[in-house]
Amino acid sequence: MKQRRPVVAANWKMYKTPQEGRAYVDELGIKGLDLEGVDIILCVPYTSLLLIGESLENGEVEVGAQNMHWAHDGAYTGEISPRMIKSSGAGWVILGHSERRHIFGEMDEEIVRKIRSALDHDLSPIICIGETLQERRNGETLSVLRRQLGPVMETLSHEDMDRAIVAYEPVWAIGTGVNATPAQVQEAHGNVRKLVAHRFPAVAGSQRIIYGGSVNPDNAGELMEVEGVDGFLVGGASLTVDSFIKIIRAVQACHKNGT
Ligand code: PGA
Repeated sequence: MKQRRPVVAANWKMYKTPQEGRAYVDELGIKGLDLEGVDIILCVPYTSLLLIGESLENGEVEVGAQNMHWAHDGAYTGEISPRMIKSSGAGWVILGHSERRHIFGEMDEEIVRKIRSALDHDLSPIICIGETLQERRNGETLSVLRRQLGPVMETLSHEDMDRAIVAYEPVWAIGTGVNATPAQVQEAHGNVRKLVAHRFPAVAGSQRIIYGGSVNPDNAGELMEVEGVDGFLVGGASLTVDSFIKIIRAVQACHKNGT
């Protein structure tokens, strides 16, 4: 089985002007970011994509967007197309984030369409899925994960799935300071991997599944030890260089063998 390379993705959300983003990247360089054994993706606001991409040109840190429209281009005032994101130098795009689903009303069907379009435009998707607190309390976690991921996978090839990252992000853990427990994360990641295996038996073992929801320097080590966790999608704690670097170090310090 191919060893799964850990990944730490920052989700800056609607924070940081291009100038502030640039200062962050400069600070990352000054503090000597060590990329040994880990992939780093900075998912930044649209207005920073080009500048951050250029600032990182010689490094191995990758850049991603946080959303996109599904159309190649068109009369969609205020929207951003996959072609624009790609030509800004980004290689990744977060799709299906719970803030898109719950604040902006994005539906499963629309997210499926966006993921298909991202891949058609040579962008790798970070596919976010996760249950609300009510759904967890109702015992619906697995059915929610199946509902969110199943239709996406129907439209993907093995190669598509192989280049995607799945982010398990329980809605109740995002931005709340309450992370899911290691046991909850292990169960959810195990179930997601089974869902992937059902559709793509050859891909499941190497599929990267990351956790997101109140990850910080204090809990990253413990969460990274959890079987089936291949890294993190980090919101709040990615906004300062020091805490982001500490999370990266916690991931590097955890030596797993692809289980
Ligand atoms: P958080 O956000 O780390 O601030 O909880 C995670 C996310 O929204 O991806």
